[in-house]
Amino acid sequence: FNIFQNVIYTFLCSFFLFILLYFIKRLFVLNPCRILEHFNTCPEEYSVIFTSGCTAALKLVADTFPWKAVSNEGPGSQFCYLTDNHTSVVGIRGVTALQGVGTVSVLPHEVETRARKPQTQTNGEEECSVPHLFCYPAQSNFSGRKYPLSYVKGIQSQQLYPHRGRWFVLLDAACFVSCSPLDLSQYPADFVPISFYKMFGFPTGLGALLVRNEAAEVLRKTYFGGGTAAAYLVAENYFVPKPNVVSRFEDGTISFLDIISLHHGFETLQKLTGGMLNIQLHTFGLARYTYIVLSCLRHSNGKPVAQIHYDNDFQNIAEQGAILNFSLLDCHGRTVGYSQVDKMASLFNIHIRTGCFCNTGACQHYLVISNQNVRSNLHAGHICGDNIDLIEGRPTGSIRVSFGYMSSFEDCRNFLRFVVNCFVDKPLILDQKRLIKLKSAEPMESNGQVITPSPERITPSGDTVSKEGKKNNGSSHTLTNLFIYPVKSCASFEVTEWPLGPQGLLYDRLWMVVNENGVCLSQKREPKLCLIRPVICLASNTLQLQVSGMEAVTVPLETSLTNSDLRTSQSKVCGDRVQTVDCGEEVSAWLSEFLGKTCHLIRQRPEFLRDMKFGRAKAGDCGATALSLVNEAQFLLINRASVSFLQEHIANRYDSVNEGTWHDMEQLIQRFRANLVISGQEAFSEDGWSHLTIGDTQFQVIGRCGRCQMIGVDQKSATRTQEPLRSLSECRSGQVTFGVYLAHQTARNTTAVLILSVGACVIPRISESTEKP
Ligand SMILES: *Cc1c(COP(=O)(O)O)cnc(C)c1O
Ligand SMILES: *[C@@H]1O[C@H](CO)[C@@H](O)[C@H](O)[C@H]1NC(C)=O
Ligand SMILES: *[C@@H]1O[C@H](CO)[C@@H](O)[C@H](O)[C@H]1NC(C)=O
Ligand SMILES: *[C@@H]1O[C@H](CO)[C@@H](O)[C@H](O)[C@H]1NC(C)=O
Ligand SMILES: *[C@@H]1O[C@H](CO)[C@@H](O)[C@H](O)[C@H]1NC(C)=O
Ligand SMILES: *[C@@H]1O[C@H](CO)[C@@H](O)[C@H](O)[C@H]1NC(C)=O
Repeated sequence: FNIFQNVIYTFLCSFFLFILLYFIKRLFVLNPCRILEHFNTCPEEYSVIFTSGCTAALKLVADTFPWKAVSNEGPGSQFCYLTDNHTSVVGIRGVTALQGVGTVSVLPHEVETRARKPQTQTNGEEECSVPHLFCYPAQSNFSGRKYPLSYVKGIQSQQLYPHRGRWFVLLDAACFVSCSPLDLSQYPADFVPISFYKMFGFPTGLGALLVRNEAAEVLRKTYFGGGTAAAYLVAENYFVPKPNVVSRFEDGTISFLDIISLHHGFETLQKLTGGMLNIQLHTFGLARYTYIVLSCLRHSNGKPVAQIHYDNDFQNIAEQGAILNFSLLDCHGRTVGYSQVDKMASLFNIHIRTGCFCNTGACQHYLVISNQNVRSNLHAGHICGDNIDLIEGRPTGSIRVSFGYMSSFEDCRNFLRFVVNCFVDKPLILDQKRLIKLKSAEPMESNGQVITPSPERITPSGDTVSKEGKKNNGSSHTLTNLFIYPVKSCASFEVTEWPLGPQGLLYDRLWMVVNENGVCLSQKREPKLCLIRPVICLASNTLQLQVSGMEAVTVPLETSLTNSDLRTSQSKVCGDRVQTVDCGEEVSAWLSEFLGKTCHLIRQRPEFLRDMKFGRAKAGDCGATALSLVNEAQFLLINRASVSFLQEHIANRYDSVNEGTWHDMEQLIQRFRANLVISGQEAFSEDGWSHLTIGDTQFQVIGRCGRCQMIGVDQKSATRTQEPLRSLSECRSGQVTFGVYLAHQTARNTTAVLILSVGACVIPRISESTEKP
């Protein structure tokens, strides 16, 4: 009886579930109408094929377009695309090349200059049926340039870019439709791929191909999977496609729960903004305002602050979307590296896109070269976390800001305020003539406060650190502090005397905290880590973790591997695989309680050797350099003179956002998380050293330490501040570095235990080829 009952239950449950799903499916059948309505068309004209995104939609067209190869009977199909190279479109070439179809890239101006003269009419009937595809983006997602929608009809009717045959237009509208209305009844493109997340942020894995029903007839389908066939015979090549286009092309079960949410996406967009026309006006207004102000900003010496890359002057809403592509310049006209701008922007909670000029291939090519440069210059090579954004002073990329319907005027002002605060040599000058000229084109709102210069000290950027003067090679440097950081990203443990291990200071960064997926936690994401104080007790052979308000937890220093119940795992540090062991449940529970999320403490396996990435090539004199779980190098050294310099710089700016207690030198030192702190006389003299001796120990300088927003974490309170990165970036125009990395230079087989002590003499050797910081 029991079994019978179960069967009945199962049956009923399945039945209700089925009914439920059926209704859900019925519901979304209505959806295509809503989508088509948004584009001012109807199911009689267009069909909606759901895909996983715009790229998948492009691929669908490429795969099913009836390409005709060149043959004896006549010319073949052509695939034309505008050379606004964006990768998914270029990807279609892969498909067409296989089928022997010619690919033509067309420059934007060629479309119109090669327009057909009215008298030349078609002659060969058979040639007229050859299908060609013309592909262009309605708006470039890189520069925001909009291409005329009138191309659609022009090309279809062979008035523009004429070539005999039947022309279909693929309009990549993914970027365009996010901020602009697209009227398909007026511009009847044959294939229109879109991604919904670009319109309202959700759902991310869903896009659609809008197909003109007339064009759908020509698409052919070679693969048929679940649900796309009306009837087929397995053994014979017999396949009757379903009459409905949509069901012919949607393979398998589409993500119908996501599709249901589309309805709400469109409704909300409408409710909040009142329609795409409003969005277009709003976003264009913001972009134009930002453009005008940005292009009028001048350094104190009258040089422009930004170089804006544009094809048109933000005058015409039909030619430019709400994207601004620019580079920032310093007062000498040199480009500020985009990664520096990116780091600073994150301090101000501004998300900008930075990166290589569209052509990623060329960009990677450049970066590889520059890596080699850096390697040969600094004997160090790739320094993890740094972004090589300038090569020999030339930028490899630019900065983009883009606006969406949720952007506000306040956002623009924040952004401009950020630029003025961080990258303008004070006092700020506005190019009034230009401002008036640009503004007079169309009255804009007053921009009052944004650009009122703040009462800041005039700080000439860069070059303030005199490099000449006394070249101090004397022994006037002393080691003043020694810090070890047993657990990566946690607080320091200060010592006065400490042995050197094979991987740097003994026990430095041998442990790290990882989340449940084994990903290393750092202060960037989890500033609270700096409140955890590790204490090493060599006598009892333990590492203790302390936090105020909690009982301390202890783990053994040497994790013996005979204890086989410890889990081994692999983690990554800066792209390097490292072998680690888990330090057990107790400490894991303790950390999880403190951080409020599941995490573990792991330790590098004692026998695991991790070599410094590029050091080996040049490390003839120091053998391979073994690393612990540090990011880049065994030791990090900073100079008190440089800290004072920076401190003074911070103290001299007294604007409202200047928080924190900058008079406390020791606290400022903590932020740089150095192992060795030395006293010196000249700020940043360490940048020019190639080797140094501390006590009896020899070190090689392997490079400068690039800094990021991590130095914004106050190590006492775990709060984030914009300083000192802001001032650092200001007084070191170019790459934001502070301190140098060192590698220990003694052969590994030395048996003597080397010890570093506070108070030891530091004798630097200046590199022969001192290059500019
Ligand atoms: C975003 C975008 C794409 C790619 O869309 P996915 O959703 O990533 O497939 C293609 N073309 C343009 C113009 C875009 O803006
Ligand atoms: C775009 O692609 C064409 C052809 O592949 C290439 O010749 C051209 O240099 C590319 N342009 C840019 C800006 O990347
Ligand atoms: C722009 O489009 C390309 C494909 O054409 C895509 O790979 C890239 O991610 C898009 N960029 C943005 C910012 O959406
Ligand atoms: C920005 O403009 C520059 C200069 O015109 C251009 O080379 C670059 O490709 C543009 N960058 C982007 C991301 O569009
Ligand atoms: C600096 O080094 C040079 C040569 O190495 C030496 O002649 C000079 O006396 C040194 N200066 C000091 C202050 O030690
Ligand atoms: C270290 O090894 C080198 C050769 O590898 C040898 O010449 C040298 O004597 C060794 N030094 C010590 C202290 O063992």
